[in-house]
Amino acid sequence: MRVKDLFVTRSVSDLIDETEYGDERLRRSIGPVGLTALGVGAIIGTGIFVVIGEGAKLAGPSLFLAFILAAITCGFSALSYAELSSSVPVSGSAYTFSYATLGEFVAFIIGWDLILEYGVAVAAVAVGWGGNLNAFLESVFGIELPTALTASPSDGGVINLPAVFIVMLISILLTLGTRESARANAVMVGIKILILVFFIVVAFTAFQADHFEPFAPEGFAGIASAAGVIFFAYIGFDAVTTASEESRNPGRDLPIAVIGSLLISTVLYVLVAIAAVGVASVDTLSGSDAPLATALDEGAGIPWAGGLLAAGALIAITSVILVLLYGQTRIFFAMCRDGLLPRRLAKVNPRFGTPARLTLGFGTLIAVLAALVPLDEIVKLVNIGTLFAFVLVNLGVIILRRTRPDMKRPFRVPGSPVVPLIGILLCAYLIAQLPWETWVRFVGWLVAGLIIYFAYSIRHSRLRRGEHATRPADAGAPDAAAPDAAPGAGEKG
Ligand code: ALA
Repeated sequence: MRVKDLFVTRSVSDLIDETEYGDERLRRSIGPVGLTALGVGAIIGTGIFVVIGEGAKLAGPSLFLAFILAAITCGFSALSYAELSSSVPVSGSAYTFSYATLGEFVAFIIGWDLILEYGVAVAAVAVGWGGNLNAFLESVFGIELPTALTASPSDGGVINLPAVFIVMLISILLTLGTRESARANAVMVGIKILILVFFIVVAFTAFQADHFEPFAPEGFAGIASAAGVIFFAYIGFDAVTTASEESRNPGRDLPIAVIGSLLISTVLYVLVAIAAVGVASVDTLSGSDAPLATALDEGAGIPWAGGLLAAGALIAITSVILVLLYGQTRIFFAMCRDGLLPRRLAKVNPRFGTPARLTLGFGTLIAVLAALVPLDEIVKLVNIGTLFAFVLVNLGVIILRRTRPDMKRPFRVPGSPVVPLIGILLCAYLIAQLPWETWVRFVGWLVAGLIIYFAYSIRHSRLRRGEHATRPADAGAPDAAAPDAAPGAGEKG
């Protein structure tokens, strides 16, 4: 095999044909509000309710600047996601974009990398859920769960059972039906926005300006490393693009949802960061498993508010798990459909119309990870994986503008290639803020992916076998053959 063969690309029109006429296709049923809710559903969770404590430790009272820096980094990449998802509206997000632009090899690497962003992130988020469950039970019922059953071995426990519980519960919900899951998500999104607004309002009533002295004890370096960690809080705006194929009007709605969900979260986060430092000291925030709940409890002296907030965090984080796990199954589905991973894994359960085997299998693996690994470590690994994917998406915009200048682009990144280039540099900057151990783990993950690619994918790739969806002469609109907003018919050959 020649090196050039590694970079074989799929044609954009073939990709789109497959979503319209292929045997495995999804129903286009989600509008702009639903998509934005999906984005907010994936974004607001453990980052703002839990990881904010670690951010406060690194940045000090200037925490909100770390949130702004991370948001700017995401903003540049969000524009690139908006352009690519509107031009290549196919399930699978960055994985599919790169299949059409950078070639199969890079696409596989991204798909593999996205398992960190979506799958492994779910484990991190679930650990945050466990922390808030403790805070809730303690604050409302005075019950303290034993550490042995609520923490990973390296945090002094044995197994994190609450994290296992929530991952398995959501996996089962997703298996039962996508439509039900989307409804549940919309309700949870409404609740979490209300809870954060409540936090901001209550915290500002007990605001103490002297908490902001000294403003940035570690200077800009502290703010930058906090941004590298707090970046986690924004992960998820791109999850919208995993649902491209289910969007009614992807050209218009995907850019609205990607940018809109990022904007909504940024405004809330910056206000929460200012309010949190104002109501409780940085030490209080950084020493708690549920910093926002503790902030209102100790800072504002309103214990019931702490309980309410912990309950809100539980709901918020539940929706993050729901959307990220959903995104993960979609990316995996796309990779299986392309033959880069075993197609039988993406088999759709005839009773539920969802990829049950895939969802429950992934759920179990993630639950094991969540049971045994501490939050801080997973968060950094997830961040590096996501930042790497963002780099490639920005690169994809630049390359596709050159190789396919005439392609229809309902949304265009303004000022390309400068703007995507800045996006790449900002991501690289945040990657550089992460500790070297995280880099080593990340490289280890990529090497494992390479082994799978050369041992399996390269021999099973449908593109290499010359298989693709054909446009039948009498093709009508996608019809009842497509199951309930879920991956379509099962395996082939
Ligand atoms: N942004 C998501 C969260 O903070 C991953 O939970």
